[in-house]
Amino acid sequence: MTRLRLPGLVDVHTHMRDPGQTHKEDWSTGTAAALAGGFTTVLAMPNTNPPVVDRRTLDGALAAAAAGARCDYGQYVGATETNAGEAAALAPEAAGLKMYLDSTFGELRLPEPAAWSRHLEAWPEDRPVAVHAEGSTLEAVLLMATRLERPIHVCHLSTEQEVLLVIEARERGLAVTCEVTPHHLFLDASDATRMGGPAAVRPPLATAADREALWRHLADIDCFATDHAPHTWAEKTSDTPPPGFPGLETVVALLLGAVDEGRLAIDDLVLRLHDNPMRIFGLPDQADTVVEVDTAETWTVHGPDLHTRAAWSPFEGRRLLGRVIGVTLRGVEVYREGEVLAAPGFGRKARAKEPE
Ligand code: DOR
Ligand code: ZN
Ligand code: ZN
Repeated sequence: MTRLRLPGLVDVHTHMRDPGQTHKEDWSTGTAAALAGGFTTVLAMPNTNPPVVDRRTLDGALAAAAAGARCDYGQYVGATETNAGEAAALAPEAAGLKMYLDSTFGELRLPEPAAWSRHLEAWPEDRPVAVHAEGSTLEAVLLMATRLERPIHVCHLSTEQEVLLVIEARERGLAVTCEVTPHHLFLDASDATRMGGPAAVRPPLATAADREALWRHLADIDCFATDHAPHTWAEKTSDTPPPGFPGLETVVALLLGAVDEGRLAIDDLVLRLHDNPMRIFGLPDQADTVVEVDTAETWTVHGPDLHTRAAWSPFEGRRLLGRVIGVTLRGVEVYREGEVLAAPGFGRKARAKEPE
């Protein structure tokens, strides 16, 4: 049996660039990439232009999504120094709150711990707070969350030290969930050397030992999340390459390759790309939704063949084993062998369930 049926996968960490930077990606191209990759729901990050930080900008992003999305979606609200109250009021309509505690792409940034605590206290406890926090910043925010007894979701763990910080925080009683990206699982500093400028990504590609530590500690990792961060190849090869990689269309095949190598079971993949994301983000079930994969098909990554407008991949030229063949979403065939069949606007907002 080389055909497998998976549930509709959820990417809890996607950058859609819409509104504001649609030359990189928009809701239509980004969700075409999502469907081609086996994702039927994407949760979009708020570092758009303008960033999603208040009623007006959330309405703008949701309008762009309603018009353009081909799969289901949620939208994060971003934390600023001054919007703790206003952001919290938007929580029922948001996928979660995103706090950028270290600098990365875009202007959203929360350097002051006083602002972290305002947000951690104001945001409803039953809705997720996701943090971009690297190294010692992660240590600081985990201590604060522990003191405030505030559950927290940690984006893109990339080093052994970060994994150990999450494990320690759990031992102290903090409800902390976490994700790792395919690029931190399948690339490391040696690839960064080979790639040059386009290897820029936050958190940076880490050592081979860190990469192996992510695999060794997989039991402690709740989600795989792509951190699909499209930039054009011209931007990535410029003197000031912006950080980020497209990732939606390659992650399932990369993980199926790991299944073939005996590093992962299919159940581990489904747990981290469906079950845990659904539970952590309180997402509703999608009826009559299935992703068909062929675990025997081999293919070679080639940027121009992808659906993302970025049209390149950090895995360019890699031969992958396993491929998404078809996707049915809410009873409708939305993807079949390279063709995205869902029109822009087919996607629906994934309404968070009432907490149980
Ligand atoms: O590499 C990254 N790119 N890391 C981030 O945190 C942001 C992202 C982007 O938006 O391009
Ligand atoms: Zn980040
Ligand atoms: Zn990101």
